[in-house]
Amino acid sequence: MTVRAPAKVNLHLGVGPLRPDGYHDVITVLQAVSLFDDLTATALDPTELDPTTLDPTALDGVPPGDQDGVVVTVEVSGEGADPTARGPATTTPDVSIVPTGRDNIAVRAAHLVAEAAGITSERVHLTLAKGIPVAAGMAGGSADAAAALVAFDALWQAGLDRVALAGLAARLGSDVPFPLTGGTALGTGRGEQLTDVLATGEYHWVFALADGGLSTPAVYAEFDKLSEGRLRTGPTPADDVLAALRTGDPAQLGAALVNDLQPAALRLRPALRRVLETGRELGAVGAIVSGSGPTCAFLAAGATESVELAASLAGMGVARAVRRASGPAAGARVLEGPDDA
Ligand code: C5P
Repeated sequence: MTVRAPAKVNLHLGVGPLRPDGYHDVITVLQAVSLFDDLTATALDPTELDPTTLDPTALDGVPPGDQDGVVVTVEVSGEGADPTARGPATTTPDVSIVPTGRDNIAVRAAHLVAEAAGITSERVHLTLAKGIPVAAGMAGGSADAAAALVAFDALWQAGLDRVALAGLAARLGSDVPFPLTGGTALGTGRGEQLTDVLATGEYHWVFALADGGLSTPAVYAEFDKLSEGRLRTGPTPADDVLAALRTGDPAQLGAALVNDLQPAALRLRPALRRVLETGRELGAVGAIVSGSGPTCAFLAAGATESVELAASLAGMGVARAVRRASGPAAGARVLEGPDDA
């Protein structure tokens, strides 16, 4: 069974002060875009599992020699699997490497579904075909987690409804509920409480991918340093972006984009300033760091303009790679057959 889940871009990311629990209150507007991760879950016969080829952490918590328990193995292809896509490691461990053991967020999702469904002994192999850049501010890990929740719910016939899935998603991460629903939504709390927003039109995006990733906690920590003592009020409201989404006018939306994490991401990656400027000079109607970065997101005036912008940006050599995508895209869904892929 294969489940496809989308990346996101924050059209608005208003961030409030650090809370006692280590999170920040946010007011964010999220749009799902047509870059996807495809997660394929294959149930294995327990005898098919060769412990000698397993990632050692895949068996964490499973007593040695004991074949009981839920064991999920992972294989990654695409973004995050190619060592040449990794930049100089700025953090330890390298956040741009997708883990394949128990710390993989899709594996953690599987264990939550197993717990909810009372599953105690299963073997499943996951392949993650990643089209979403890793540690890039586009919620690729969250998309994998959302896809895994949908896949394991179906595979194990857990019968979890959307509310139950969203509850498990919020336990996995602040950004995990959104790729379950996709579309365009307002996020509050730590970003996990979602409300639909009225959005019209289709938006054409160009993403400039950077070498290496940025760690979300590191970017929030930099935000705290930059705003120390000066942030007493809550996060900036998203009124301008919400109004622009009602008009469906890309130029209006482009002018309204806000990301309070952008100064922090630019402090950690000063080279991104040039990337943003280049996109603006090339005619983007909006230019912003995506989420915690380091991907830069450019809104084009239309489909044709996005093709031209992507080609010109790629030609300028300011990014590791350039991708085009449109939004809003659908949330996590089971791919039914070859026509879907
Ligand atoms: O929820 P998630 O596990 O994705 O968050 C990762 C980290 O990002 C948190 O531990 C926290 O440092 C930071 N974060 C935050 N405020 C949010 C969301 C995330 O400070 N609203």
